[in-house]
Amino acid sequence: MKETQAHQIEKDLKLNYGPNKKFITVCAGTGCRAYGSLKVKEALEAELAKQNMQVDVLATGCLGFCEKGPMIVIHPDKYFYHSVKVEDVPEIVSKTIAKGEVISKLLYRDPDTKKTLFREEDLPFYKKQLRVVFGKNGMLEPTRIEDYLAIDGYQALGKVLSEMTPDDVINEVKKAGLRGRGGGGFPAAVKWEGVRRAHGDPKYVIANGDEGDPGAYMDRSLMEGNPHSVIEGMIIGAYTVGSNEGYIYVRNEYPLAVTHLTLAIEAAKKMGLLGKNILGTDFSFDIHISKGAGAFVCGESSALFASIEGRAGEPRAKYVHAVEKGLWDKPTVLNNVETWANVPLIINKGADWYASIGTEGSKGTKIFSLVGKINNTGLVEVPMGTTLYEIIYDMGGGIPGGRKFKAVQTGGPSGGCIP
Ligand SMILES: Cc1cc2nc3c(=O)[nH]c(=O)nc-3n(C[C@H](O)[C@H](O)[C@H](O)COP(=O)(O)O)c2cc1C
Ligand code: FES
Repeated sequence: MKETQAHQIEKDLKLNYGPNKKFITVCAGTGCRAYGSLKVKEALEAELAKQNMQVDVLATGCLGFCEKGPMIVIHPDKYFYHSVKVEDVPEIVSKTIAKGEVISKLLYRDPDTKKTLFREEDLPFYKKQLRVVFGKNGMLEPTRIEDYLAIDGYQALGKVLSEMTPDDVINEVKKAGLRGRGGGGFPAAVKWEGVRRAHGDPKYVIANGDEGDPGAYMDRSLMEGNPHSVIEGMIIGAYTVGSNEGYIYVRNEYPLAVTHLTLAIEAAKKMGLLGKNILGTDFSFDIHISKGAGAFVCGESSALFASIEGRAGEPRAKYVHAVEKGLWDKPTVLNNVETWANVPLIINKGADWYASIGTEGSKGTKIFSLVGKINNTGLVEVPMGTTLYEIIYDMGGGIPGGRKFKAVQTGGPSGGCIP
């Protein structure tokens, strides 16, 4: 996909993000928390109160460029400050918040051009990305359902329940060309169709948040940073296949994801978006969280079902299909966390829009984790078809110390090393 087209789509999406309001977002993803971002947030709130300023400070999920945490973004100008310390806070408030002046030592300096860059989208790390799924992390506090609603959250669910039949949803997702993000790349709509047509009751809907691949934390960052997008996708999936009960399987080593998902489920229930008679319809659906113990194999579908059922997480023979006999031998849709998070986007923006991103055979975007011997570690979201060269060199900044690239490992242990 051409860069200009990618930017236009992102620009369109950003226009939806609401009023031209002054507020500060502090990344409070697991990575930035480890760098002390919660202390920066507290200091900002205290300093704003001290200087008598009423400016909201949002603790968001991961913004992607974890290497440079703690990071804050000052809206509406979107000044991007990285590696912020508590000691920097009084100056940030008195200069940037009060007078709109930027503090150059906190801005990003391009290592190649040596230019100082003001905004997130100007940074080489972000420039070629298309953050239509992951980018929303930066616009909301994951523990506040109101923030998700403010960026059109649960609008897709409303549309589905009021205007679309299950077959309409299947056709839309099929037309969009959504394929599973968990590794196999199976077309999501085909799987949903299979479960919809399968005999057996009840039917289950599951989000796979096991994410055992070493170095991978895309799903964690979605569950932590935008849990409602996963939940909304699952509710739409449940309506489509005729399920009233679902599970999010998430590893216990992801405590923040578990907390945010739990809060999000409670909040959605309180608002009538989950539970009995969703949005006043006769459709009911509930979600439970099932915590895994971090065994890599439990990400595999049949081992995952065994683990939820309370048995040892061991895979079974492949000729038994989850579509007919999944959890407790009932028809089951299992999709990856990122796959679910794409669903509301498809319904909101339409299959044609979605299918305009990516390649002939793979539509939409994919989030990748950049870790190891690379300059810019973090998460990137790019259109399908983006080359590894662009990811490693343009976004990742190449190999530290100008050393020679040797190999890249993709797709975890089931993937391979590409020299
Ligand atoms: C050993 C093994 C581990 C797996 N681990 C994961 C995982 O952590 N997350 C995931 O979504 N899929 C994982 N999968 C793939 C799942 O079995 C399944 O195909 C996927 O969750 C389906 O969702 P999708 O169609 O949305 O990709 C794993 C597969 C195998 C064989
Ligand atoms: S955790 Fe802050 S950018 Fe990733």
